[in-house]
Amino acid sequence: MDIKLYINQNRDRFLNELLELLRIPSVSADSRHKADMVKTAEFLKARLEEIGAENVEICPTPGHPILYGEKIIDPKLPTVLVYGHYDVQPPDPLDLWESGPFEPVIKKTERHPEGAIYARGACDDKGQMYMHIKAFEYMMHNNALHCNVKFMIEGEEEVGSSNLGPFIKANKERLKCDVILISDTSMIANDVPSITSGLRGLCYMEVEVTGPNRDLHSGTYGGAVANPINILSKMIASLHDENGHITVEGFYADVLELSVEERTAMNKAPFSLEEYKKALDINDVWGEKGYTTIERASVRPTLDVNGMWGGYIGEGAKTVLPSKAYAKISMRLVPNQSSEKITELFSRHFEKLAPPSVKVKVTPHHGGEPVLTPTDGIEYRAAAKAYEATFGKEPIPARAGGSIPIVALFEAVLGVKTVLMGFGLDSDAIHSPNENFGLFNYFKGIETIPYFYQYFKELKD
Ligand code: BES
Ligand code: MN
Ligand code: MN
Repeated sequence: MDIKLYINQNRDRFLNELLELLRIPSVSADSRHKADMVKTAEFLKARLEEIGAENVEICPTPGHPILYGEKIIDPKLPTVLVYGHYDVQPPDPLDLWESGPFEPVIKKTERHPEGAIYARGACDDKGQMYMHIKAFEYMMHNNALHCNVKFMIEGEEEVGSSNLGPFIKANKERLKCDVILISDTSMIANDVPSITSGLRGLCYMEVEVTGPNRDLHSGTYGGAVANPINILSKMIASLHDENGHITVEGFYADVLELSVEERTAMNKAPFSLEEYKKALDINDVWGEKGYTTIERASVRPTLDVNGMWGGYIGEGAKTVLPSKAYAKISMRLVPNQSSEKITELFSRHFEKLAPPSVKVKVTPHHGGEPVLTPTDGIEYRAAAKAYEATFGKEPIPARAGGSIPIVALFEAVLGVKTVLMGFGLDSDAIHSPNENFGLFNYFKGIETIPYFYQYFKELKD
């Protein structure tokens, strides 16, 4: 049976299974959801087993479990390793959701005339990961599985995947494969299919600025003792110059500049600055001088404050000169920057910025390396042919601004290339209130994936 027909016949069930998965609040960052993480892994184990996956195992880690499963039809055939994550971001701020984050609903909107699923994880990454399980079901039931397949679905992607590195190092033999297939990125538009050709890396820091040894009366001491919030604001403000360049010494030293041809090509991708501004309700964009919005959001490194706090933030007013101020600051990295090196450069720079009136502590959080996924390998060509088969158009390669730190590790440890077949849209509000995933996108993903297996095998021969 053809994949389109199979989807039509099983459409409601494919949808209901995803909705059930979305109802489990698998928030990896929140320890209150520890049991939900296991429940999600168990749900997925049952779904994989009932469609014929073998050796399905919930592998415990010091954090949340990793789900593994496989179907080896012939050791001589190529093996595809599917990676995805079942954990989701915290849903806050809750009051901005139009419906419960874990009570999925289907709504029709202008952007998604066929309807979209609204729920935390709908796109990132439960919806996109589950497409692979349903594509596998089709291939199993219709004698259409052309490659061996291994599934590795983790529960800690949104918190830095710290237990996945050791897992892949300890399971090199079990994870042996010819290609890694991931749907955890986006495409340009439903009528402009694209394949992600690179990801940014990440360097995440927390800083603490301490002034006096206790909170002070801002009348008695104000003006005579440094206020750590004032100081921290100034330090942060100085991290960009007037051209939007990052001022951390040595920050750009390893940045791989694109050739004129590469820049021309990437800026030919369909993009409307007017629509971009309208969608975000901003009067103007901002960024590094000399680069377009597309470039700023994908091939250039960045520095952003993700949170900042200190002093009095309760109701009314309190005249306090606080003892401490804090900020979380992250940097997106591009090839060939290294998160370890940037951690060092940032720490040194930030400590030097502080005047003698305060003390500064810089603590690194998780990091990840940037990657390029080449567009001339057979895995990319197989993916391109798959999109062409179902979208009727050749996909465009497009670099993504987000990070999936494990991709660089896969390459380093397993020596295998990754292909990033994203089916979401940038407007799906991942990590935001009202995250959603178009029904068109969900079913198109399920339809496209089996072609990848077919063409990958053909091109491998
Ligand atoms: N799926 C995203 C990454 C992504 C989103 C890549 C859109 C390309 C386009 C992933 O789940 C994610 O959110 N990653 C984190 C990194 C992690 C270390 C917390 C990120 O990019 O902030
Ligand atoms: Mn994701
Ligand atoms: Mn995410």
